[in-house]
Amino acid sequence: MTMPGTVLDRISYFDDIAQDYESVRGSEIWPSLLHTIRSVDSDTRRVLDVATGTGLFSVRLAEEGFHVLGLDQNPQMLAQAIDKARQQNCSFQGVLGLAEQLPLPDRSISVMFSTNAIHHFDLQAHFTEVKRVLKPDGCYVVYTRFRQQNNRSIWGRLFPHFAEKETRLYNPEDFQRLEAEFPELTLECLDELSFEKPFSCTINGAWTLRLDDVTGSIEVGKSADMIVLNHNLFDIPLTDIHNTEVQQTAFKGNVVYEP
Ligand SMILES: C[S@@+](CC[C@H](N)C(=O)[O-])C[C@H]1O[C@@H](n2cnc3c(N)ncnc32)[C@H](O)[C@@H]1O
Repeated sequence: MTMPGTVLDRISYFDDIAQDYESVRGSEIWPSLLHTIRSVDSDTRRVLDVATGTGLFSVRLAEEGFHVLGLDQNPQMLAQAIDKARQQNCSFQGVLGLAEQLPLPDRSISVMFSTNAIHHFDLQAHFTEVKRVLKPDGCYVVYTRFRQQNNRSIWGRLFPHFAEKETRLYNPEDFQRLEAEFPELTLECLDELSFEKPFSCTINGAWTLRLDDVTGSIEVGKSADMIVLNHNLFDIPLTDIHNTEVQQTAFKGNVVYEP
């Protein structure tokens, strides 16, 4: 499987968006990604992020105490990640390279992940490399949207021909087929994440503000900051969201607004 366009086309596309990438990319998956990486039984805290981009997740993971190797083909995207990691003074090493030619020794990686990027890779060439660099019992966590979800995505709902035009994404069957092609690798699970829960959104807002240890989810010890709305935002058409009204606001557990 290959992507339309040459490697150079793809590199220059990311040149153009590197500066603004994080202002348009959501990070809803962060709590789930962190939980998954933490739960991998590994003898090391060294983690490889394939196609790390601006380090949206890998720098944050480094801030959590992991030693992250962030690989990307695009120097501009990678420069953002390296800069951010330098400012946070965390253990992140940027590596310029391709997912299809990982510049790493055989059996050198216990934990690797890739987010929002696998549709850019040649899957066969990439998984040949995954098989080579992973240690026995190593683990690879991939987050991607599937092509079959296009109609349900916000773009699919807003733009009539989106699903016909966006053909790059893979589907679950593509990963199931890989298991047959690479018998050394086991597809442990294909989980579908759902973000249609208010608290998965609020924790991300809090995370963006670096306040996720204080607020953003219902947990003992956190500040109970909540709003009550007059309807469920996920049950109404996007075009009606602006009619939403706040019926009550609580801050640190105390009601501070009630019209
Ligand atoms: C949409 S960004 C995702 C970045 C990051 N993983 C995230 O979740 O925000 C896709 C990234 O994949 C990189 N990329 C695309 N094809 C690649 C390849 N074959 N090898 C390495 N990096 C690649 C691009 O340069 C870009 O930084």
